[in-house]
Formats: sequence, C-alpha cells, structure tokens
Amino acid sequence: RYERIWLTIGIASLFIFLIILGTLAIGLGLQPPGHMKTVPPEQVRTSAPFNNPALVQIGPNEYKATMVAQMFSYLPGELEVPAGSTVHFEITSPDVVHGLYIPNTNVNIMVIPGHIAEYTYTFKHAGDYLMLCHEYCGAGHQVMMGKLKVV
Ligand code: CUA
Repeated sequence: RYERIWLTIGIASLFIFLIILGTLAIGLGLQPPGHMKTVPPEQVRTSAPFNNPALVQIGPNEYKATMVAQMFSYLPGELEVPAGSTVHFEITSPDVVHGLYIPNTNVNIMVIPGHIAEYTYTFKHAGDYLMLCHEYCGAGHQVMMGKLKVV
C-alpha cells in the first residue's frame, strides 16, 4: 500500500513538473526577447549552420565554434585552438535543455532548445579544458562532456 502511495506521489510530481515545464516553454515561445536568436529545435540537425557544427577560424586568433548540445554529447566533441584565441561560441539544442560549462573559465552557458546561445571567451592559457553539461538532461547527463584543447 505504501508503494502505491509513493508511486502516486511520484507520478503526480512528474505531472506537476511537466506542467511547469510546458508553461515555461509556452511563456518563452510567446515572448522571446528581441535580441535573442532562435532556431526551431526540429530544424537544428537539418539547417545551416547547425547541420554542420564546426570550429572555424574567422580572423587572426579568432574562431567561431558552432555547436550542438544534444543527449548526451557535444558536436563537435573536441575543439583545439592556439593559446590567446578568442572563441565565439554559438550553441543550441535539438532536444532538451543542456549546459556548456568550461571549468576555470567564464564559459557557463545555458542551452535552451529553440534559442541560439552566444558567448565569447578568450583562452589565454594553454591546457586541456573540459566542456561539461551542467543542466540535468536525462540518463546520460553525467557522461555528457567534450574537450577543448588550448595549445
Ligand atoms: Cu546535457 Cu546534462
């Protein structure tokens, strides 16, 4: 009997969570801040530039990292730039909310499906950096990570 009560509570809280999530999504959809770039999540994998996520050099010491955060990896999963490079990240998600957190830097991005998150950071120090998902996104959340090498 107790199991049943807990099961009921579990299912009820799941529904409440989904309702909150849905309300939040509708709220975001109805009034996206004007400056925010958007892309429909279902088009991420098929439309430019996110159909070809890549690191591209756009100037001396300047790169653009077009990335996809998905369950449960980053595309591309590895980036390499010379020390002193400024990297312009643009990242979105085709599925659920993810994060892009690079310890020992100021890179701390929330990746929301439908939105293109942008952040610029200059990597002054050589080293191996981790790209970590810091938003819970499902069963593979703990293993969702990538590498950024500054050489
Ligand atoms: Cu993606 Cu947690």
